[in-house]
Amino acid sequence: MKITVVGAGAVGASCAEYIAIKDFASEVVLLDIKEGFAEGKAMDLMQTASLNSFDTKITGTTGDYSKTANSDIAVITSGIPRKPGMTREELIGINAGIVKSVAENLLKHSPDTILIVVSNPMDTMTYLVHKITDLPKNRIIGMGGALDSARFKYRLAEALEAPISDVDGMVVGAHSDTGMIPLAKHATRNSVKVSEFLSGERLQQVVEDTKVGGATLTKLLGTSAWYAPGAAVSALVQAIACDLKKMFPCSVMLDGEYGLKDICLGVPVILGKNGIERVVNIELDESENAKMQESAGAVRNVNALLDN
Ligand code: LAC
Repeated sequence: MKITVVGAGAVGASCAEYIAIKDFASEVVLLDIKEGFAEGKAMDLMQTASLNSFDTKITGTTGDYSKTANSDIAVITSGIPRKPGMTREELIGINAGIVKSVAENLLKHSPDTILIVVSNPMDTMTYLVHKITDLPKNRIIGMGGALDSARFKYRLAEALEAPISDVDGMVVGAHSDTGMIPLAKHATRNSVKVSEFLSGERLQQVVEDTKVGGATLTKLLGTSAWYAPGAAVSALVQAIACDLKKMFPCSVMLDGEYGLKDICLGVPVILGKNGIERVVNIELDESENAKMQESAGAVRNVNALLDN
């Protein structure tokens, strides 16, 4: 199993690290355009191998896509991250050009690869990759919901004063501060609805804190987060690489599901060796469905900017 991670910045490197630590892949190639950067990160990570007991071989390259040839899975993290006060949508001008060229270069050398898009604005970047390639929709996956759901569970556990392993919850919709939809009514603590433990007001606070999860970290760190994004990508990669048939919310091209078409948006999917094995069409109530349509509307507005 060969995995390429394009972009050796904080998200790409932490993604490579988590993949290696889980030890399910034979090879991880890190690629970056900054001279020597990916090679340096790869060497540093390889020097953790004996300490962290993994056999995954990590190599780095400065822009040489031939080194990524025949990757089973390729992750696109390239582009600029947001700075405090910025929205993910503001990155489109720079990141669209970068993501387009990265996707084309990857497919030249790995025509059968499964692509995972992480660059922001993620739902629009995933849509862009669909538009510029003719890949079947099971092979293009946007990572956002897995991260947002992890942040939701963190906030739920905090409010419940419970261990995170007690908590389950999912975030669908766009990977944006306003378009994210934490499904609070579906969230549980060991199968019991969290509303049994939390007031409506406290639960609403959890939802609001989840939606600005990325922005809160950007403010604290001065740049966007990397540990949870890296871990979330590695979980998707592992589910595909090991054919786990695990369910995650991912941004996928919709074809009528949730009443939406020709848009990439976060919905629950089953991930396995073919990438997206199936889109799970769960029943949303009226208010959740209204939020889904609103979220889609906002993503469509950002998608329209791609024409410029
Ligand atoms: C975040 C970035 C990865 O939410 O979008 O931290």
